Amino acid sequence: MTAIKTVPLMERAAWKALKSHADQIRGRHLRELFAEDSGRGERLTLEAAGLFVDYSKNRITDETLRLLVALAEESGLKARTEAMFTGEKINITENRAVLHVALRAPKTEKIFVDGEDVVPGVHEVLDKMAGFANRIRSGEWKGHTGKRIKNVVNIGIGGSDLGPVMAYEALKYYSDRNLTFRFVSNVDGTDFAEAVVDLDPEETLFLVASKTFTTLETMTNAHTARDWALLKLKDEKAVAKHFVAISTNAKEVEKFGIDTANMFGFWDWVGGRYSMDSAIGLSTMIAIGPENFSELLAGFHAMDVHFRTTPIEKNIPALLGLLTVWYTEFFDAQTQAVLPYEQYLKRFPAYLQQLTMESNGKHVTLDGTTVDYQTGPIYWGEPGTNGQHSFYQLIHQGTRLIPCDFIGFSKTLNPLGRHHDMLMANVFAQAEALAYGKTAEQVKAEGTPDWLVPHRVFEGNRPSNTILAEKLTPRVLGSLVALYEHAVFTQGVVWNIDSFDQWGVELGKVLATKILGELEAKDEPKLAHDSSTTNLIQRYRKTK
Ligand code: F6P
Repeated sequence: MTAIKTVPLMERAAWKALKSHADQIRGRHLRELFAEDSGRGERLTLEAAGLFVDYSKNRITDETLRLLVALAEESGLKARTEAMFTGEKINITENRAVLHVALRAPKTEKIFVDGEDVVPGVHEVLDKMAGFANRIRSGEWKGHTGKRIKNVVNIGIGGSDLGPVMAYEALKYYSDRNLTFRFVSNVDGTDFAEAVVDLDPEETLFLVASKTFTTLETMTNAHTARDWALLKLKDEKAVAKHFVAISTNAKEVEKFGIDTANMFGFWDWVGGRYSMDSAIGLSTMIAIGPENFSELLAGFHAMDVHFRTTPIEKNIPALLGLLTVWYTEFFDAQTQAVLPYEQYLKRFPAYLQQLTMESNGKHVTLDGTTVDYQTGPIYWGEPGTNGQHSFYQLIHQGTRLIPCDFIGFSKTLNPLGRHHDMLMANVFAQAEALAYGKTAEQVKAEGTPDWLVPHRVFEGNRPSNTILAEKLTPRVLGSLVALYEHAVFTQGVVWNIDSFDQWGVELGKVLATKILGELEAKDEPKLAHDSSTTNLIQRYRKTK
């Protein structure tokens, strides 16, 4: 990997300048910043890859932006971006390249990993996926008993589930409504049982999606699915017609009994949480068709090009990433809300949770030093307007600063009377209310009794971004996901962490395997846990 000068974060000149600058900005209100510059709301906006971003309602000045850009430069953002795009092994703890950008690279591009151009392989898999998706969609692919496939069940977890389910929900409008899609992820048997309760095995296709093909939950669900299917189909040969695999691990796929001819591959340089546009997106492609899937990839690619080639001060993912750093480090913000005003994006916050938190939930820098600053914030959210009637109270009047990303669309896919104008009126109103608030004078002027005034005051000065697109299309979804992918990358570069490993999920997995043996042991097992864990295990054994 390119040797990149990594001065510890707090020793970087731009960091020190930001720290004292933040002390001045903290005392400034967004009301003043807007009053001082009538063009602020037009000036602090950017547009690229089908997305318009208004970042004017952030607690920043031109000087803040200049210093944040300087911080990105000093942190080596441009060099690190090039290292990623050119296949260097920037995931140092796993010694892997990080090339989700290759998954959407046009055929004409060349990207090398260990001397091999990976782009032709990407397109080979995409072509194979398209052939398969078309056969399912047209009914040409038949089940073991000659019936047409009507149901597609994706079995996977984490990146092998969240991307597919989010994309399916987001693009449902474009999906083939003659096909039913279900997604099974949890090892809780209820997930599988409910997913197939009304399905006929003769008409059901399982996509077993797992990068490693060893993940406990997915393998357990896949074996249960096999038993469920064979109970009715009664012939091992049926597996070939009702199961396909999406994996990097051909050996394990074969062991499971799936013909590797029915395997869709990808590569170790695709992280699970960055894989929805690889073969892991097969369910998406079956749902929306290969042409719409190409549109999705084109949206990702457009944002990739924007991120790679645009100067930092005009670079949407870089700026949004830097703003998150700004609030995390200097305003003690613990969380970031993502609020899509689009029902089809209902799983988008859940998808982003893995993308952002598995990537940047790290406590050491690339060289293993414990960080002396905060890293990845908690991402969370729900679609508007629903959230307004549950948790927005805390965002408006609580004691914590919660930066918000509002996402909205000019046109709805389902025009129904005044619904869409009402929805969008709420996006703009919420962002305005958060920024401006309502002063005690305003509240008093409304005739509020003195004792009630403090309760009705809105402090305001609560930051947000508003992301607008014309319409939710496959292309726009691609751009939106890539925007967050690169924002997360930008944060990771500033924090100097490995955004592409996930060692933090290992310990729980190892302990669960050990405890599973203890839960299932016939004879009373000798337990060597703490007293709480021991007590819980014993209680479960007695009551199960
Ligand atoms: O446990 C975390 C994780 O490794 C994620 O990073 C990944 O997306 C998920 O498990 C599923 O992994 P696999 O696709 O190998 O089954």
